[in-house]
Amino acid sequence: ESEGKIENIDFPFDGIFGAYDRNQLQRGLQVYTEVCAACHGLKYVPLRTLHDEGGPALPEDQVRAYAEQFEIFDPELDDTRPRKPTDPFPSSGLEGAPDLSLMAKARAGFHGPYGLGINQLTKGIGGAEYIAALLQGYTGEEKEEAGVTLYENKVFPGGWIAMAPPLAGDDVTFADGSANTLRGEAIDVAAFLRWTAEPHQNGRKHVGFLAVLFLGLLAVLLYLTNKKIWAPFK
Ligand code: HEM
Repeated sequence: ESEGKIENIDFPFDGIFGAYDRNQLQRGLQVYTEVCAACHGLKYVPLRTLHDEGGPALPEDQVRAYAEQFEIFDPELDDTRPRKPTDPFPSSGLEGAPDLSLMAKARAGFHGPYGLGINQLTKGIGGAEYIAALLQGYTGEEKEEAGVTLYENKVFPGGWIAMAPPLAGDDVTFADGSANTLRGEAIDVAAFLRWTAEPHQNGRKHVGFLAVLFLGLLAVLLYLTNKKIWAPFK
């Protein structure tokens, strides 16, 4: 299976102080929009969250313009209209292409060793690593099975996936001049999909750190209080 073939990637959001890199998320959004969105939806992601701090943080007018390129059926109008920031991303357009909103949490890049889960403890679950590796995992072999074309992929469990290689490198042009190699595009879109699956990570890590700091301080104060209370009886 996929075990052992997925490399750990040093994502900016890894570690206790890790945080999403806004520019990387914007590049990943671009790859998603220009390539993946042809088949895959993000139906659990509200478009307005593209404006969120700790996310891609697009300016509000850009979010509005981005939303308007997708139509939605509005039961009140009994007609379609352009999406607003309060609407979600569209659903998958291709039957069989799974929604990608939570994919980075639904897949794991690391397992074991020996079923102990220690790799996940040290490296994280590796959902983003799995996606980045999957996009780079094609061998170029294909076969026909029951009328479906399957593509050999070293990372996909079972080895044959119904998704044609979506990226080859040079598929998009990044405004910030970042490398649009296959690897660069795969890592950026994986980071973006990690954000869609875990949009509040920055805030969560911040609050978690403050909580630990506070509990540490409380422990010191309680220790000193205890010492003082019992001092006369020693
Ligand atoms: C499956 C990502 C573009 C069609 C998947 C899966 C991921 C993914 C993560 C799930 C694999 C799994 O189950 O473990 C992406 C990304 C894309 C992209 C990041 C853009 C860079 C496309 C495009 C198409 C497509 C353009 C259609 C032409 C499919 C299909 C499956 C799939 C049919 C189901 C494959 C199977 O279960 O055998 N994709 N995809 N994808 N994707 Fe894509």
